[in-house]
Formats: sequence, structure tokens, C-alpha cells
Amino acid sequence: MSNTLFIDGQEIPFAPGQTIMDASLEAGIYIPHLCHKPGLTPHGSCKLCTVEVDGRSVSACTLPAAAGMNVDNNTSALQEVRKTLVQMLFVEGNHVCPNCMKSGDCTLQALGYHFGMLDGHFPPFYPLREVDASHPDLVLDRDRCVLCELCVRASREQDGKSVFAIGGRGVNSHIIVNTHSGKLGDSNLTLDDSAAHICPVGAILPKNHGVEVAFGRRTFDLHSVTESDVAQVGLQKTEHHDE
Ligand code: SF4
Ligand code: FES
Repeated sequence: MSNTLFIDGQEIPFAPGQTIMDASLEAGIYIPHLCHKPGLTPHGSCKLCTVEVDGRSVSACTLPAAAGMNVDNNTSALQEVRKTLVQMLFVEGNHVCPNCMKSGDCTLQALGYHFGMLDGHFPPFYPLREVDASHPDLVLDRDRCVLCELCVRASREQDGKSVFAIGGRGVNSHIIVNTHSGKLGDSNLTLDDSAAHICPVGAILPKNHGVEVAFGRRTFDLHSVTESDVAQVGLQKTEHHDE
């Protein structure tokens, strides 16, 4: 059997070892995701990539592609589940977009728009977690963290540093910094690190920068989240081929 699978009836190829997400993004098909980034070990925490494979709900970012698989990605039931997941992420933190300089560049916010989310639906938690402004160049606002672990993985796998980790359990889970003081300022994180830029929301932000790109001209003002993520994978492929 050839290495192809079907996404919403469309036949696409996959390479051995690829997940459904890898194969789908390479074929230019968008599967919503927040904790996935090509090149980093899959994490499987946000569940926004939930698809149905032969009637079973699975995470597209962790399940290896298999020949002949029938994947449903675009049903109204799945979109509704994904919208609920985004609403849960919004109410669990303090995602006050009008006060956040990531607004317009934030993947969580863009996903909210993508799913037609008009409110948080659930009662907000209004957490009170520590803001760490001890680093000269970066600030960490834990109330906006969605626990995607992109910074954890980027620091470990790309920067070779392991600056971040997740501590606590259940609703008390929060991002921690691996230093004796627990402060970002005592870590060896630098602005050049991948972990300094990878946060998809406004939890890790550069200091000493204001709103430099006007609202209305920001990433997701100009491109839907669908286009941006698929384009990113296309760009990476071109770079690989050019090397
Ligand atoms: S700080 Fe940002 S990148 Fe790190 S886990 Fe939280 S949301 Fe994800
Ligand atoms: S992208 Fe698959 S679980 Fe987050």
C-alpha cells in the first residue's frame, strides 16, 4: 500500500515516521494547533489538533501517519470542540487582549477569531501568578501562559539550556525557571535564544519594546492563522531545499 492517507477525503502523501500533522501541513492543509512547532518534539497538550481517525478522537501532532488512514479534520463538531478548548484557555488565564502587546501577533487570539469565539463562555478564573521582570531583556507573565511547553522544548532542544520547566499539578501548574532563585534574571537565557521568541502568546515578551507594529498591520491582521502556519512550513521546506 502506498504511503498516502486521506484528510477530509483528500489523498495526501506522507513520509515514514511523519505524524498526521507533519504530513498535513506539508500538503498545505491546516490542522489547528497551539503546542506544535515543526522541528520540536511533539507535546500533545493543547488538543486543538484533535481530529477523528476512523471515528476515534486523536491528536494529529502525536499520531504517526499510516497508509489508508481516514482523517476528519473539518467537521462542525470538531470545530466546536476546538472552540471550547480555546475558551477554556482564555478563562484559565488573564488574557486581557486590549492590554497585551502581543495582540494581533498572538496565536491563541488568532485561534479564537478562527473559531468564531465571541466570549469565554465559562466563568473566568482570574489567577494571580507572579510576573517575573528580573531579566534585563525579557519579561515572563505567567497569567498569560497556556502551558504549551514550546519554551521548555526550544530551550532544551534548540538552545541546549533547559531554562524553563512546568511545575505544580492540575490548575496549579505553572511555568518555572530552572535557577536557584527561580528568577529569569539569574538564568542564562539570552535574546538570541529560540526560547526567547517562541511563545505563541504574550507570556514571554521582550522588554524595552513598545507596540512597534501598528494594530491593523500585525501578523494575524494581515494573514489568517491558517495561512500563516501553512506558509511557515512551506518556507522551512524551501530553506531546506536551498541549503
Ligand atoms: S511561557 Fe509561552 S511558550 Fe512557555 S509554556 Fe507558557 S505559553 Fe508556552
Ligand atoms: S498541537 Fe496537538 S495537542 Fe497541541
